Amino acid sequence: MDKLRIGIIGTGGIAHAHMRSYLRMDDVEIVGASDIVPGKARAFLDEFGLTQVPAFEDNEKLLDLKPDGVSVCTYNTTHSLCAVAALKRGINVLCEKPMSVTLDQAADMARAQKDSGRILTIGFQPRYDENMKMVKEIVRSGELGHIYYVQTGGGRRRGIPSGSFVDKKLAGVGCLADIGCYGLDMAMNSVGYRRPVTVSAYASDYFGKNPKYFKGDFSVDDFTCALVRFADGLVLDFRMSWAMHMDTMGDTLFLGTEGGLKVKSPHPELNWGGAWDGSIGDVYLYKDVCGNQTETKIPIKTTVKSDNFYLKCRAFCDAIRENGPSPIPWQEIIYNQAIIDGIIRSSELKREVDVVIPADLGL
Ligand SMILES: NC(=O)c1ccc[n+]([C@@H]2O[C@H](COP(=O)([O-])OP(=O)(O)OC[C@H]3O[C@@H](n4cnc5c(N)ncnc54)[C@H](O)[C@@H]3O)[C@@H](O)[C@H]2O)c1
Repeated sequence: MDKLRIGIIGTGGIAHAHMRSYLRMDDVEIVGASDIVPGKARAFLDEFGLTQVPAFEDNEKLLDLKPDGVSVCTYNTTHSLCAVAALKRGINVLCEKPMSVTLDQAADMARAQKDSGRILTIGFQPRYDENMKMVKEIVRSGELGHIYYVQTGGGRRRGIPSGSFVDKKLAGVGCLADIGCYGLDMAMNSVGYRRPVTVSAYASDYFGKNPKYFKGDFSVDDFTCALVRFADGLVLDFRMSWAMHMDTMGDTLFLGTEGGLKVKSPHPELNWGGAWDGSIGDVYLYKDVCGNQTETKIPIKTTVKSDNFYLKCRAFCDAIRENGPSPIPWQEIIYNQAIIDGIIRSSELKREVDVVIPADLGL
């Protein structure tokens, strides 16, 4: 079997996890890497002993090698630019989360995918977690009846990252894009994708801007909350923080006419973690049984420890080999990106905003 030829665009922190995953695959060969910072891609490849593999400062030169696929591991504001450039050259793309910063950027990516017919998948590795799959299965089973309200998000008591994550020019947004997008993805993935119509949001930066809690320049949000309305009447209550004087922003809740599901945040002892950051806490199902209000603890699969990051890179490679479908397609994630875009606009304008997904995307 011919080896799949993979390139990596952006060779910072998370590119290492991509590289480690690809290097575990017998049927994959790394053909090159690129980064706009001079020397960074070279140092990255050398770190993995790939001293003969070419490094570039211009992504186009990497794309000239016609790899079968690229991992886009750049910071958020350049995801769209890099993914569109690859798709336009007919190259399959695994793009890191969040899909982009704005809805316009995400729509450009979607159009480039449609035009090229290549695979575009967005790197939400919690999707591969067995407990996440279980929650989705329960929510989609109909056991809860009609679901009318979802609360999601999570938060850290102290957990502001550094580097490109806190620079608006590079990250675009802060905790919302870093860990908030996971909460949105897993809530939407559980209830099913549907059209958001309005967002009313608030964002603040009290901790990032206070030298008592964070040293250095800080130009993004460290706390965000939002109420999102969907075309079919569903309401999503979203909360996320990087830092706060509180233990948790609450559990993930699904309220239905026939039942409710509570997914507790993981690691309550550490006060750390989005509601959906790759693991979950205890899960409880609330139902009326013969007129009795019951609470059932659903065992989580503690014995199944999957390597979600590897699985997401493997799923990308398998999709290339099998010519699709995309494991996590833009047709799903565009809704999350529309919400993020709405949250950014609403929190800046300090009022509710409409969410309009471009009609030409054909959703
Ligand atoms: N899935 C996960 O678990 C996970 C974890 C961390 C980060 N991420 C995501 O990965 C992305 C990168 O995060 P990071 O921590 O690696 O950031 P980073 O700042 O360490 O690395 C980003 C790299 O991209 C390079 N870059 C930026 N624009 C470029 C361009 N146009 N062409 C080529 N290179 C370019 C930068 O020079 C930098 O080296 C972010 O979008 C982040 O949300 C995902």
